[in-house]
Amino acid sequence: MFKKNKLPIIFMIATILTLMSACSIFDQTKQPEEAPSNTDSTPPEKDTIEEPGNKQEEQAVDLPADSLQKLDKGEQVLQLQNALNHIGYELNENGEYDEATTWAITDFQLQHDSLLVSGLYDEQTKIALDEAIDNDVEVVAGAGLPQTAEPAFTSSGTEVIANPYEQLALINKEHALPADYIPEDLVIPNVPFPFSEDTPKKQMREAAAKSLEDLFAAAEKFGLELFAISGYRSFDRQDAIFASNALKHGEEEANTFSARPGESEHQTGLSMDVTSPEVDFELVTEFENTKEGQWIQENAAEFGFIVRFPEGKEEITKYMYEPWHLRYVGEKAAKEITAQGITLEEYLGETE
Ligand code: DAL
Ligand code: ZN
Repeated sequence: MFKKNKLPIIFMIATILTLMSACSIFDQTKQPEEAPSNTDSTPPEKDTIEEPGNKQEEQAVDLPADSLQKLDKGEQVLQLQNALNHIGYELNENGEYDEATTWAITDFQLQHDSLLVSGLYDEQTKIALDEAIDNDVEVVAGAGLPQTAEPAFTSSGTEVIANPYEQLALINKEHALPADYIPEDLVIPNVPFPFSEDTPKKQMREAAAKSLEDLFAAAEKFGLELFAISGYRSFDRQDAIFASNALKHGEEEANTFSARPGESEHQTGLSMDVTSPEVDFELVTEFENTKEGQWIQENAAEFGFIVRFPEGKEEITKYMYEPWHLRYVGEKAAKEITAQGITLEEYLGETE
């Protein structure tokens, strides 16, 4: 009876054990099924990277020590192009600080609030680039400045430039600024104006304003009385000025001394008209014969300015001689342009 009664119990225990064992086999077979998602992904790759023999070498990226700008050529420009490509640009590494390199630097500067935007590779830009490379930052090329202008032409058919921010921007009857371009770093230079109200025309971009202050301070040391008259003008303000001049003189004549909207350097915030009491604070050719006018001709370049519409170059600039109109291009370009007696068009190789 005992034996007879024990048999079903033994059978039941055997069945349970068999089932448990089956479950454990199921569990074991289940693990390998889940495993591929682990084995095929990160850990083995990591193992491979960590093996000393397979360790990938970090590419060394050196930044140029010197400041660089448009038209510069050579090993340092190549270094800069290589560094820019390392963080996400796709420049042709030709060793020439060309339009594309200027665009990439401007685009990078526009993506870094702390940087002045000039298209120049300067000390601050070097620091920011260094940081981007160290932190493996990938820049979205073009996120700051699209590579082409939209719209591409003004209503009068002049090509709109894609990079209005650069310090060496060429603005003339063939190259216009976008209608909506307003420089972001406009300030009022601390120099004398023959009027007291704070109007937009007192403003210039920061670097230009600072250099204008230096120029005025140097002139003052020689007992000269320079006055600033007109700096930044918006597209709309230039539109109104040109319309008024065209009404008085006819469009063609007006355009020999007054720019169409979009075609005035005053919209860049890099120009300032200057004058002196000797010519009653007017913007007239006689300014060239004043002590102030003479001093400007001889010394403006030291401070990064050029007389933008020189005498004898009317065929190139397409404007009459304006001894009062200063344009900031930076010291290097201003000295080269003045020493060679050329225009910005000639300097940039943009004559017709
Ligand atoms: N007087 C210069 C050409 C201008 O209007 O911008
Ligand atoms: Zn002017």
